[in-house]
Amino acid sequence: MEAAPPNGLSIRGNRMVENRPIPGYIDEHFARIDDAWSPDNPDGYVAMCIAENKLVWDLIEPKLAASRDVPARVIAYDLMTGTQSFRETVASFLGRRVVYRDIDPEHVIAVAGTGTVLEMLFYAIANPGDGVLVPTPSYTGFWPDLEARDELTIIPVHTSSDTGFRLTTDLLDAAIDGTDRPVKALLFTSPDNPLGRIYSADHLDTIIEWAEQRQIHLVFDELFALSVFDGSTFVSGGSRRASLGDRIHLVWAVSKDLAASGLRCGVLVSENPGVLQAVEGQAYWGAVSGDTQYALEQLISDDEWIDGFVEENQRRLGNAHRRVTDALTAASIPHIPGQAGFFFLCDMRRFMPDVTWEAEDELWSWLVEVVNVNLTPGSECHIGEPGWMRLVFPSVETAAVVAGVERMGRALADRRA
Ligand SMILES: Cc1ncc(COP(=O)(O)O)c(C=O)c1O
Repeated sequence: MEAAPPNGLSIRGNRMVENRPIPGYIDEHFARIDDAWSPDNPDGYVAMCIAENKLVWDLIEPKLAASRDVPARVIAYDLMTGTQSFRETVASFLGRRVVYRDIDPEHVIAVAGTGTVLEMLFYAIANPGDGVLVPTPSYTGFWPDLEARDELTIIPVHTSSDTGFRLTTDLLDAAIDGTDRPVKALLFTSPDNPLGRIYSADHLDTIIEWAEQRQIHLVFDELFALSVFDGSTFVSGGSRRASLGDRIHLVWAVSKDLAASGLRCGVLVSENPGVLQAVEGQAYWGAVSGDTQYALEQLISDDEWIDGFVEENQRRLGNAHRRVTDALTAASIPHIPGQAGFFFLCDMRRFMPDVTWEAEDELWSWLVEVVNVNLTPGSECHIGEPGWMRLVFPSVETAAVVAGVERMGRALADRRA
């Protein structure tokens, strides 16, 4: 008979302990954060591993501070899916700025961050043991979001560096036909994390048609929809059909586009009444605090403020992206530039004695321990081949990132010599 889990835990409780859903690079990050780079601490730690935007706090702080007149109703129980007025505000904002068509507030649910949206949505559309397709390279958090409690299995659809990491329907066919599991959905991130890529309307149409033919759900994670720069235009997966129907769902959040990951507010847009009810049934366990909804409503409902914020944010992201591109080029670190999001995907293969997962891990550890910089290892982005690392460029001030890249360039050149 199998031994009972230690500490009086259930089997599922113990699974959380044994498969702790926090990757090692995040532990390393928090261990070093108090010794961060500054002009006075030039050897300090440079964090380039967590998808956050720290370039716009000066814009948000006064607006948030001015939104603190808390009405009594916000500290009482309300709809766990978001108050009526918050969902109306979000629906109108997403319709106006992201999807470019009217969104019914009854089709909107807000809960505490995208991780929560995804967990609740996939709980509603897939059974334990079912498969979900996720193209890679990918955002690492999808694995805990879908696997830890929903007990689904992600089937990675590996794209290859040889094709510029291009996702094709042949790859999707091979993934779905190559598994015995029932596949219930494709989770598609656009703009992409970590490729920083925007998908064209044609590409989105191909993906939608494929999902329709296969009769599976298609979830568009559009968290970086407004974080585009240098004149790039985002196209929402939700704009390609007159209605979303029962199987297309959109996910957005304030975490990235409003640089407010700590406020924990993610949004589901779905027209499937069953899905909405099933997520509503879970929302109590992950509701957004009334106070947070109220503050966010003040930001998002002020068209003039939010439009100015989005424009200035895009300008700053573009400037930072340009400065870090120059630094990476000067440091001879090959990289795939982005058009949106917070990322460069760096090709580190030339700095590895052989192109293996062990060598990637060794290089990443050396960068953290010796060079005092932290990138996201490609293995954590579930890339199908070793040798790549994600660099997040707005997670600290640009001067720090540039200093980190310069330090990395010098150290890598010495290591190769
Ligand atoms: C593509 C993508 N989806 C979801 C998330 C999770 O976001 P949240 O902090 O709102 O849970 C992230 C965070 O990095 C992300 O990059």
